[in-house]
Amino acid sequence: MEKIVIKGGERLSGEIQVSGAKNSALPLLFATLLADGVSTICNVPHLRDINTAVKLLRELGAEVSHEGDCIRVDARKIQSIEASYDLVKTMRASVLVLGPLLARCGHARVSLPGGCAIGARPINLHLKGFEALGAKIQLDHGYVEATADRLQGAKVYFDMPTVGGTENLLMAAALAEGETVLENAAREPEIVQLADALNSMGAKIEGAGTAIIHIQGVQSLKPLSCAVIPDRIEAGTFMIAAAITAGNVLVRGAIEEHQEALISKMIEAGVSIQKEDDGLRVIGPERLSPVDIRTSVFPGFPTDMQAQFMALMTRADGTSKISETVFENRFMHVCELQRMGADIQIDGHSAIIRGIREMTGAPVMATDLRASASLILAGLASGNTTEVARIYHLDRGYEKIEKKLAALGARIWREQE
Ligand code: EPZ
Repeated sequence: MEKIVIKGGERLSGEIQVSGAKNSALPLLFATLLADGVSTICNVPHLRDINTAVKLLRELGAEVSHEGDCIRVDARKIQSIEASYDLVKTMRASVLVLGPLLARCGHARVSLPGGCAIGARPINLHLKGFEALGAKIQLDHGYVEATADRLQGAKVYFDMPTVGGTENLLMAAALAEGETVLENAAREPEIVQLADALNSMGAKIEGAGTAIIHIQGVQSLKPLSCAVIPDRIEAGTFMIAAAITAGNVLVRGAIEEHQEALISKMIEAGVSIQKEDDGLRVIGPERLSPVDIRTSVFPGFPTDMQAQFMALMTRADGTSKISETVFENRFMHVCELQRMGADIQIDGHSAIIRGIREMTGAPVMATDLRASASLILAGLASGNTTEVARIYHLDRGYEKIEKKLAALGARIWREQE
């Protein structure tokens, strides 16, 4: 296995290019199953999760090829409707094939994703939505068996805004008979891109980005051709890297409208953030102010930036409080940050961080994707050496992160454990 080694203490400077968004590329890849033709998606990041999605598409019978940062999907022949446990357990976003397979083939057999490091993450709201559209849902041997002759449009109310649930129902409703209304829908930028992509295929979707989405079902959809939006979480991670090292970095591709909650909290912490060219310039202060955050669904503070912001607050002059309201177990980075000298106390769904001037590098272990990123960030700002093990977690969602950070002056490299 590989590890990442960081000799901290360098102020980062220069500019960094954000890659395409993992959490947009994944639903877009599965949306290609809705069209009896050849789709092309560009600006796709080179990540483990993308490779898993390509493997799943091929297992379903699609022909998939890489052409630079584009992926070509020929979904004319769907030979299987099953997403196996092996695949789904490595990437829970595989459940996003349920909607397209139900809509295109009237049948889908997908392994229940099971728990994950950050929480139980059930898919009950996805399944309730499919049943509202007339699908028959059976659970057996850890698999969801979904069948429907032709999905019928209906009103679907989500007990809580679910990103994956909204995406699955958007794709299913696009080919249903009649109108579907999604209420209390998720509003993330990735939802908006998926709706725009489906509309470019011939779907009739209105209201994406708001809590109420109307979908008029159509008979069929044309193949997709689009480019993935920049990854707002990767961008946010690099913004924190500039701030935590008192650096000066232009984060190319960062979109202000996708980051407003994060930007507001970073400015409150004393970071300068200016819109420039096609990105955001981030200048970190000598002294950071403590800031309280509470994660929430978009447009609130993103849960996927909670661990990274906690790393920043370990260096603030004072005490901050971070509350995680989306997932039930997303503080596993805390004990690793404590190994680096951070003063953090967990109290239920909140963490109290007492900032210290200097963290000390240490051997630490990644536990999930964004926790890994927070350890890298803490290492950049710590004296001596930090070694982050189990970085396969990191490679799921960050493309060549050590090379991108090294180009900004960080002393960071990858080596065998
Ligand atoms: C997406 O996961 C993202 N993944 C996650 O990013 C992100 O953390 C999450 O949205 C929240 O923003 C992808 O887009 C591939 P949810 P998803 O359904 O769709 C509960 C990363 O780091 N819930 O919005 O699985 C659920 O347990 C990953 O890139 C139900 O109870 O998230 C959670 O507490 C991590 N029943 C909350 O809703 C359901 O049927 C939000 O989950 C569905 C969800």
